[in-house]
Amino acid sequence: MTDLSALEARLTAEIAAAEDEASLEAVRVAALGKKGELSELLKSLGKMSPDERREEGPKLNGLRDRVAAALAMRRDSLADAAIAERLKAETLDVTLPVRSSPASRGRIHPISQVIDEITAIFADMGFSVAEGPDIETDHYNFTALNFPAGHPAREMHDTFFLEAPEGAERKLLRTHTSPVQIRTMESRKPPIRIVIPGKTYRQDSDATHTPMFHQVEGLVIDRTANVANMKWVLTEFCKAFFEVEALNMRFRPSFFPFTEPSLEVDIQCDRSGNEIRFGEGSDWLEILGCGMVHPNVLRGVGLDPAEYQGFAWGMGIDRIAMLKYGMPDLRDFFDADVRWIEHYGFRPLDVPTLFGGLSA
Ligand code: DAH
Repeated sequence: MTDLSALEARLTAEIAAAEDEASLEAVRVAALGKKGELSELLKSLGKMSPDERREEGPKLNGLRDRVAAALAMRRDSLADAAIAERLKAETLDVTLPVRSSPASRGRIHPISQVIDEITAIFADMGFSVAEGPDIETDHYNFTALNFPAGHPAREMHDTFFLEAPEGAERKLLRTHTSPVQIRTMESRKPPIRIVIPGKTYRQDSDATHTPMFHQVEGLVIDRTANVANMKWVLTEFCKAFFEVEALNMRFRPSFFPFTEPSLEVDIQCDRSGNEIRFGEGSDWLEILGCGMVHPNVLRGVGLDPAEYQGFAWGMGIDRIAMLKYGMPDLRDFFDADVRWIEHYGFRPLDVPTLFGGLSA
């Protein structure tokens, strides 16, 4: 006869020693599987005499039940341990700092930011944004703006000309945003109040000039727009842009073919320290050109100068961005150096608004 208590002790030890569900299953199959040790013993009951069976049956059945129960208990505790192990491995330490996301690492280029600042300020005054093509015709860039053929002002623009296809007109890269004034006046009826930010091109390169740069143009056309309105708009813009309470501006006579009178505007500043301060000091800094739209320009787009008048201005975005944010060399703007953009760039969610603060 098999020694049942020895068998029970061995199976109990094997069950306890099973380290994972697979080895426990092996123990089960060896004991209670079809050909298992205990199953064979249970089968042998059939061959016993009724007396033997009465004697051995309860012992074997009891042993089978205890082994089955021990297997089930061990399976449960192995499953619990596996879950505990997994939870431990997958633990999230919520006190760890979050890794920065691309959205928080990326930076907005100062030019884009400054364009957003400018449009926020002018939008608040009732202006909308207009745009036009970078590749222009001689007509829009010069002729329609009252530059006579052969006029020296054309030469001053150091224009990039494109090669003309056979028999076609020679195109150019616009040297200023002013052609969009013409395009807008041709396509819209007054009153017109627009600002035109965009890329402009001239053959020039040093610390304050790059062959591609940015301008913002403004245009107001209605029946009464005058120099006083223009001075107010430009003063309010400069105060808002440079974020100062008061700002002195100096309007000097100048010349542009498309305005009459033409003026150049300087703003008061203090350049005695390391940085420029606006709204104080005894220095003057030129920041824009402006004037009343020339009657020839109005006539050219089919507006009667006896009925309509207006003012316009243009300024370099790169230049005012350098002044406001203390960036010394314009060429860095277009060098695509990540260290520069990390230092001078803006966070994507720092959207400039007048109520939230332009550069706050
Ligand atoms: N287009 C001029 C330039 O690039 C700037 C300018 C001056 C624009 C006076 C204007 C203006 O609209 O009225 O130098």
